[in-house]
Amino acid sequence: MLRTRIVGCGSFLPEKVVTNDDLARVLDTSNEWIVERTGIEERHIAADDETTSDLAFEAARAALGSAGVGAGDLDLLILATSTPDNTFPATAAKVQARLGMTQGLAFDIQAVCAGFVCALAVADSFVRAGQAKTALIIGAETYSRILDWNDRSTCVLFGDGAGAAVLTASEGAGTTADRGVLSVCMHTDGQHYDALFVDGGVSTTQTAGHLRMQGREVFRHAVVKLAAVAEEALAAAGIAPEAVDWLVPHQANRRIMDATVRKLGLPAEKMIVTVDHHANTSSASIPLALAEAVGDGRIKSGDIVVMEALGGGFVWGSAVVRW
Ligand code: UT7
Repeated sequence: MLRTRIVGCGSFLPEKVVTNDDLARVLDTSNEWIVERTGIEERHIAADDETTSDLAFEAARAALGSAGVGAGDLDLLILATSTPDNTFPATAAKVQARLGMTQGLAFDIQAVCAGFVCALAVADSFVRAGQAKTALIIGAETYSRILDWNDRSTCVLFGDGAGAAVLTASEGAGTTADRGVLSVCMHTDGQHYDALFVDGGVSTTQTAGHLRMQGREVFRHAVVKLAAVAEEALAAAGIAPEAVDWLVPHQANRRIMDATVRKLGLPAEKMIVTVDHHANTSSASIPLALAEAVGDGRIKSGDIVVMEALGGGFVWGSAVVRW
């Protein structure tokens, strides 16, 4: 049975760090409010001339390096982003060219904060269908460009960054002992379109627009849907919650993350947390967290890793991977 193995991770963050105190100097907010309500302490913000493709390229290069895979080996590149460089072509095409990948297929996925899990789901389908052997998936965002910097209820929550993973096809026995993606479950409920959206776009205002969020409404859905979809993915994989080594949640709000780890019955130490120093980087948050936890040796070969995310749409999903 074909399995999709994750064989390398990489990440990239812009150099500029903005702390809560920096924001409190220009906004009616405070470090105490932001930390208490979200767990965020600081975020990275892209330089004026730094684009989503720049961040994606650096994360991709790091992931390929850690996997020992060359751009010439790739036959699929999927970039999850809701802040593309241009309306078209896909930002993935720009990254593909910069990497020197001249073969295969490269395209973008728009599933907002669930983009990385969705990219993993699509790449896994390509691999298991025999249509790709070596894939690169990236989550990359420059949310600083779509924030309303006068709206304290949203602008303090997000940061910029990118993370990437290299996937390869490998033969497995079809059991839970196989390394690789064991299950991915994804959902969309478009009835909640207005709860988290950008008030601009090509066919509406012809402007990029700004992020708008009914925070409490998103929070309420996130705490229910994220635990439920993680349980669904675990059941689909045939893995008991007790067997989970690491929960790698989308890093939107520490309170949502704590509620999810509790609902899953996992000890808090099994959760990878980067929201404090990255804030919410949308599709980049999970691969940024993976790169950090693999890089410092917490996530090891054979570990059961559960990822989960929810974003605008709503679209949400979870993946179970034996590392
Ligand atoms: O990645 C996509 C998924 N997104 C999420 O998961 C985000 C989900 N939502 C949240 O994380 C939380 O709802 C927020 C962090 C956005 C807000 O936290 P909250 O506990 O739901 O606060 P709230 O919106 O109920 O606001 C409470 C108070 C309000 O004041 P009043 O009306 O009680 O006087 C806000 O005006 O906090 C005020 N407030 C702030 N105060 C200081 C809102 N933003 C700020 C701020 N600084 N930055």
